[in-house]
Amino acid sequence: MNDSNKNITHDEKIKILTELKKVCSQCSKCELSKGRTNIVFSDGNPDAKIMLIGEAPGHNEDVRGVPFVGRAGQLLDTFLQEHNISRKDDIYICNTVKCRPPENRVPKPDEKKACRKYLDAQIKLVKPEIILLCGSTAVQSFLDTKLTISKIRGQWFENENGIKMMPIFHPSYLLRNHSLEENSPRWLMHKDLENIKSELRKLC
Ligand code: URA
Ligand code: SF4
Repeated sequence: MNDSNKNITHDEKIKILTELKKVCSQCSKCELSKGRTNIVFSDGNPDAKIMLIGEAPGHNEDVRGVPFVGRAGQLLDTFLQEHNISRKDDIYICNTVKCRPPENRVPKPDEKKACRKYLDAQIKLVKPEIILLCGSTAVQSFLDTKLTISKIRGQWFENENGIKMMPIFHPSYLLRNHSLEENSPRWLMHKDLENIKSELRKLC
């Protein structure tokens, strides 16, 4: 397991995360800094066993400075609730970049690269047991694969520190796919969340 900061206290962790957030709020390492209203650092519990990494902030996230608070975020909340995963207590939420891309375009590789050291620092501090790669942008940042999200979702991977990672559908894709029939995207998302819950129980 990743035990590189096993001696850090909870208070120190929160202090370092707060400092890191402040650094991000002054960051201009990539073009995305120009269009932002607020940086979108994280939401949820920095002590959570699950970390979810989405794509990038959208309009609502940029205005509020909080990830996944628009329509996609609301749908994500519904899925989490249905599986008894508390957004406040059980999960820590971030994105591949902290500033909103113009017109909600996909973040460019150099933007993701510029922002990655902040995300890596968050992973190191939070030390999740499981990382959910939510949508293809997050998948491409962490896994060397050409497989589409439909092909790769639901599979377990492990990063270099032994943290389990699973690609899952992005809620904005689920907003466009309403069916709950067997093997539909929403049905598969429920299956993946069940799988994640059962892995969590094993870890407890
Ligand atoms: N979509 C994302 O990928 N992240 C957000 O924070 C909001 C929408
Ligand atoms: Fe800095 Fe990340 Fe924002 Fe780019 S997206 S300006 S690297 S905080």
